[in-house]
Amino acid sequence: MSFTPDFIEEVRSRISLSSIIGKRVKLTKKGRRQTGLCPFHNEKTPSFSVNDDEGYYHCFGCGAGGDAITFLRETEGLDFTEAVTRLAESAGIAIPDQRPVDPVKLQRRKTVMDALSAAAEFYKSQLATHGASAARAYIDDRGLSPDTKADFQIGFAPASGLRTHMQQKGFDEATLLESGLCGRSETNNEIYDYFRNRIMYPICNRQGAVIAFGARAMGDAMPKYLNSKDGPTFAKKAVLYGWQQARERVRRNLPLLIVEGYMDVIAVTQANVAGALAPLGTAMTEQQIALSWKLHDEPILCFDGDKAGQTAAMRAIERILPVLEPGKSVRIAVMPKGQDPDDILRHDGTEAFKAIINTAASLADALWERVAQQFNVDEPTSRAAFFQQLRDMVRTIGHNQTRQAYGDDIEYRIQSLRNSLRTATGTQSLSSPRRIHRPETGARRRLSAMLALLLAYPEKIADIYEELAMVDFGRKGGDTRLEDLKKEMLDIVLQDADLDAEALHHHLQGKGHGQILSELYSDDMIARLGKHPKDMETQKVSLLLGELLARLGR
Ligand code: CTP
Ligand code: MN
Repeated sequence: MSFTPDFIEEVRSRISLSSIIGKRVKLTKKGRRQTGLCPFHNEKTPSFSVNDDEGYYHCFGCGAGGDAITFLRETEGLDFTEAVTRLAESAGIAIPDQRPVDPVKLQRRKTVMDALSAAAEFYKSQLATHGASAARAYIDDRGLSPDTKADFQIGFAPASGLRTHMQQKGFDEATLLESGLCGRSETNNEIYDYFRNRIMYPICNRQGAVIAFGARAMGDAMPKYLNSKDGPTFAKKAVLYGWQQARERVRRNLPLLIVEGYMDVIAVTQANVAGALAPLGTAMTEQQIALSWKLHDEPILCFDGDKAGQTAAMRAIERILPVLEPGKSVRIAVMPKGQDPDDILRHDGTEAFKAIINTAASLADALWERVAQQFNVDEPTSRAAFFQQLRDMVRTIGHNQTRQAYGDDIEYRIQSLRNSLRTATGTQSLSSPRRIHRPETGARRRLSAMLALLLAYPEKIADIYEELAMVDFGRKGGDTRLEDLKKEMLDIVLQDADLDAEALHHHLQGKGHGQILSELYSDDMIARLGKHPKDMETQKVSLLLGELLARLGR
């Protein structure tokens, strides 16, 4: 339901903000304002102020502020419509009926939907014909099982034939044009099939009805993908590909991935490792992020490890911060350079893919690490710029309490970094037994995973000796023990290149690294890696190490 601005204004003007807030906060009158203890942060002296005349509240302590609608959204978790409805009810204002729908428009829309679903049937049946043998070979080559083909209603658009078929079924030209299935030629004014010689991926709405198509050329024909244009049933920016299949998998408690392409959705779904959704050839919009939260509180965004993918990841973080809601977030997973989930599943298999998904960083970690990459934390002015940039980004979070929680998190990390810089320059040798507890960052997790893998496969250490030597694990992971352990490992492989895992472990234990060794093989770490490193296939170990190594310098 959508309310008119007039209606919302009327609701705002008829309610008393202080009586709504008064149900939660004890307010005391102070001139034209009322003050009390802020419900959005912990305080002992009142800095929360309510202005009934203007209908706004503001906290001078934490910066929270807004009107009655904001207050209900943030204290009771209502959405906009629910908040307005609640206020209208409490003020005794009748809720307007839903806007009457135009029956003619409704009928047009239904006809277009019918045409799209008839076309999907046509394309599907074409895939079985003699003329589609190349298409079938292409699809088989990409590894789609019969079940998957049926589930995603994969079809084939021949060079011609749709228009005639549809007209025989009684769809007129106007409908074929409006649905985007046909175009009109500017030279001879004839209408022609829009999709020709392409593999057809029907795009469905959340109820499973076909609303558009993605169409892939076979081989190198251009453009690689052709998508339906926006129309009466389809707004590209508001739709995610693969909704119904993803919902089914999320209901089985599998994670939810946001991937880039149609084939990625299909491959992830077929592998049964997660639910997957994809935007349609654009970057994720705010609307699509909010939509994905209807299925899962923390979808995992998958990005290519190449430069373009990393820029896209940063843009995505910037876009998500302003729309964060309590309890909703994302994680960020980085694929090996130049590979998409479909490639990884096909070439390296399900386990390797799962292992990559399991290294996904939380949004808070990703924010910290990615911003950190742009600065040199060892240099004071660069470090100051780093802190400033983080705080600026946190400030873009729209939701008050969420912004505060992120603010706390960032300040905590900043303080930890300061502490570790302080210990790194001087007092380190005094090595106090009471360590500063540092939040487990993604960098620390990755460095620990790397050490855990190398401990199980010492023969791999020599291959990446230089890279390991160059990075200060203590500084980067926020725990000097990681660096000490790494140095010891490098030293010993120099002395004895054929050392096996057991001997290495024994040696390290003898050198006083027992505690960190047992932390590296914690249940948590094993869960993250999928299984204990010693039980992994070497191919998977190499893949994981490669992935971790690619992110080492960052
Ligand atoms: N895309 C598009 N139009 C294009 C190219 C791409 O709409 N001309 C969209 C499609 O949704 C596609 C996604 O962007 O699935 C990712 O494109 P790309 O990475 O080029 O292709 P893949 O998904 O890897 O496709 P494939 O594996 O079939 O080569
Ligand atoms: Mn691909």
